[in-house]
Amino acid sequence: MKKINIAIDGPSAAGKSTIADVLSERLGYTHLDTGAMYRAVALNAVRKEIALDDEENIVAMIADMKLEMLSDGSVILEGEDVSEAIRTDEISMAASDVSKLEGCRSALVAMQQKICEAGGYILDGRDIGTVVLKDAPVKIYLVATPEARAERRVKQNLEKGLEADYETILEDIIKRDYQDTHREHSPLTKAEDAIEIDTSYMSIDEVADAVMEIVESCLGEE
Ligand code: DC
Repeated sequence: MKKINIAIDGPSAAGKSTIADVLSERLGYTHLDTGAMYRAVALNAVRKEIALDDEENIVAMIADMKLEMLSDGSVILEGEDVSEAIRTDEISMAASDVSKLEGCRSALVAMQQKICEAGGYILDGRDIGTVVLKDAPVKIYLVATPEARAERRVKQNLEKGLEADYETILEDIIKRDYQDTHREHSPLTKAEDAIEIDTSYMSIDEVADAVMEIVESCLGEE
């Protein structure tokens, strides 16, 4: 069967990555976590002590940076596995900061478009349906209340042995939502042809089933 690309967008901690993982398993597709790419850029900038609003130097840094996005989800930066290091609260905020820069966005969008050229990819992010994969036949927009998302992040952090203060995480989510939806370049918005699913009171399997139904009806039409 022909392999399509699938776009999943939505605010942070809405379940995009988890759903993309379940779907990629069910469909035999590859999940590309585009947020992890912004996180890797942010981590590299922090490590190199480049200010997060210094667009010129960040763009130059990206041009030199060796970033590998492995199909098992591992993120390799300059040969080092940084899959865990990019998940701290500091790097979450820093990723939101660098994602405001137009030069950073256009470099990463070009990489993402190249990676999924052959089809069979599920991309999750903020601008997939509106910019990266404007023509994707399936576009999903996942939302959930900030409180439901904060609870999920607390659980994830505890599982990973990371800091997990609910109030701090909720505050960060609200702040990042504001930044991601109010930035000048490619702010988070729902594509006109995206299907919105509110996951606040749904289990992972319920969301995955709902998305699978949409994908299957689309594949049937292709
Ligand atoms: O999905 P995430 O929380 O890992 O993303 C980290 C940050 O990167 C997020 O605050 C916004 C930004 N981002 C973006 O601007 N565009 C994307 N396609 C993916 C993430």
